[in-house]
Amino acid sequence: MLSSKNKEKIYIKCIESIKSTSESNKLKFISKLLFESFESWIFCGFYFEENDKLFVSEYCANKIPCSPINFDGVCGTAILKNKILNIENVNNFEGHIVCDENSKSELCIPFKINEINYVLDVDSNIHQAFCEIDEKFLAKIIKEI
Ligand code: SME
Repeated sequence: MLSSKNKEKIYIKCIESIKSTSESNKLKFISKLLFESFESWIFCGFYFEENDKLFVSEYCANKIPCSPINFDGVCGTAILKNKILNIENVNNFEGHIVCDENSKSELCIPFKINEINYVLDVDSNIHQAFCEIDEKFLAKIIKEI
């Protein structure tokens, strides 16, 4: 398990890269950068809303994610409640949509691009992988989009 200090260091480096990248596709850059920065992450990507469903946008993952998905899962609930959902154990979330059975914990951060609902979704293969540090830095990263 990463120490808080090391986690912060990784995020600070990521934010520097995001601020200085010339890559115009920010979603693509962010999903790849974060995925490669955290060993336990098995999915890092974005979903957006269209016709009452969520479709996957840019992502990096070990497996091809499910798409479209309905609003009953963690991603949809984060959008409907307009709040960050930090799920320590995905088995305890009723409605959790399984895209990769190795996913143990999940963090979803809702936001908008041009009035379209998006969510940044990250999955880890360990329980309780995410804490306030992830919430804080990922929210900062979204502001860079
Ligand atoms: N678990 C999510 C679905 C997306 S995947 O994890 C990539 C959910 O419950 O909405």
